Amino acid sequence: MTTPLEVTFELAPWRSALSRALHRNRAQPFCRFLQLATVRSDGSPANRTVVFRGFLESSNRLMFISDRRSEKIDQLHQEPQTPNRTPFNAEICWYFTKTREQFRISGQLSSIDASHSEVSLIAARQHLWQRISDSARLQFAWPHPKDVRTKDSNFEPSAPDSQMPPATFCMLLLTPLNVDYLSLSGEPQDRIIYSYQDADWTRQVVNP
Ligand SMILES: Cc1cc2nc3c(=O)[nH]c(=O)nc-3n(C[C@H](O)[C@H](O)[C@H](O)COP(=O)(O)O)c2cc1C
Repeated sequence: MTTPLEVTFELAPWRSALSRALHRNRAQPFCRFLQLATVRSDGSPANRTVVFRGFLESSNRLMFISDRRSEKIDQLHQEPQTPNRTPFNAEICWYFTKTREQFRISGQLSSIDASHSEVSLIAARQHLWQRISDSARLQFAWPHPKDVRTKDSNFEPSAPDSQMPPATFCMLLLTPLNVDYLSLSGEPQDRIIYSYQDADWTRQVVNP
């Protein structure tokens, strides 16, 4: 059986709804902000806001960026707590305020840093680094996140190379396995669940 990481690329059925929402909400810059939840080693949830950076080319995988020193990265690398744990290790929750649509996308989140073995992903990471703003790049040269701030903490480091990402720069890839779509504008509201099973997506209209 193939996994969603191996199949030949086909646009997932939920992609058109998401593209439409992004297009119809594009006047609001914050329409690309969403919440990303992971799981801490003690099983408690961890949630934070991140910016959607587009889809990895020829895939349904969503891209984000993160500092390698941040806690979310440790949470991705921790050992499974149970032997039969599901492949789901993250969920995003994305609400589009203008069109009143919510996408809850869960699946497998992985981080790509300079040590990754896949050449095409290393190239995608580099391309992403080149696309982000100077101010976003500068944050990857800041002192260690969550260290106590002192008068010596240097938040004015020299600008990082705009071509080659530093070791602190990670590309995060979310491979969706379940998409729970809710539109508040219908009477009754519309809810559709998309699930990735046996190398294919199923689509089911359910009660809200
Ligand atoms: C509007 C907004 C956008 C943000 N975008 C990102 C982002 O794209 N990537 C990121 O790692 N953190 C982003 N952050 C910071 C995170 O919310 C979070 O504070 C940081 O990543 C540390 O989280 P962690 O310790 O759970 O890894 C953003 C915060 C806000 C408020």
